Amino acid sequence: MIPEKLKAALDEHVAAEMSAAYLYLAMSADFDTKAYKGFGRWMRVQFREELEHALKFVDYMLLRGAPIGWKDAKAPATGYGTPLEAFEATLAHEQAVTARIHNLYRLAGAENDLATQVFLQWFVTEQVEEEARVAEIVEKVRLTSDRPGSLLYLDKEFGKRSA
Ligand code: FEO
Repeated sequence: MIPEKLKAALDEHVAAEMSAAYLYLAMSADFDTKAYKGFGRWMRVQFREELEHALKFVDYMLLRGAPIGWKDAKAPATGYGTPLEAFEATLAHEQAVTARIHNLYRLAGAENDLATQVFLQWFVTEQVEEEARVAEIVEKVRLTSDRPGSLLYLDKEFGKRSA
C-alpha cells in the first residue's frame, strides 16, 4: 500500500506531467504558426515524452494497487513569444518539475516507502538530463539573437529530434 499522503501527491504529479504535455503541445502549435517548424517538431517530441512520464506514474500506481485520483491538467496559454522566451519558459518549467520530483522523493522517504523512492530515482536522473538539454538550447538560441539566419539553422537542426 502506498501511504495515503504520498498517494495523493502522486495523483497530483500525474496531472503535473499531463499539464507539461499540454504546455509543450501548445508551444509546438505556437512555433508552427510562426513557421519555426523544427522547434515545433522538437516540442511535439517533448509533448510525447511528458505523456510517457505520466504513464510511468499511472502504471506504477496500478502495480502498487493504488486507486488513482484524477486531477485537472492545467490549460496552457496560447502565445510564447520569441524562441528564446519559449525555451526559457521551458527551462523554468523543467526546473519546477525537478523540484516536484525532489519533493516526492523526500516525501516517499519520510513515509518510509522505499519502493516509491526507487521508482522516483529514474525521474531524478531524467530531470538532470531534461534540464541540461533545454539549458543547452537556451544558450544556443541566445547566441543567435542578432542573427536570424543562425536561428533558422537551429530551427532546422532541432527539428531532427526523434523520440
Ligand atoms: Fe516530465 Fe519534462 O518532465
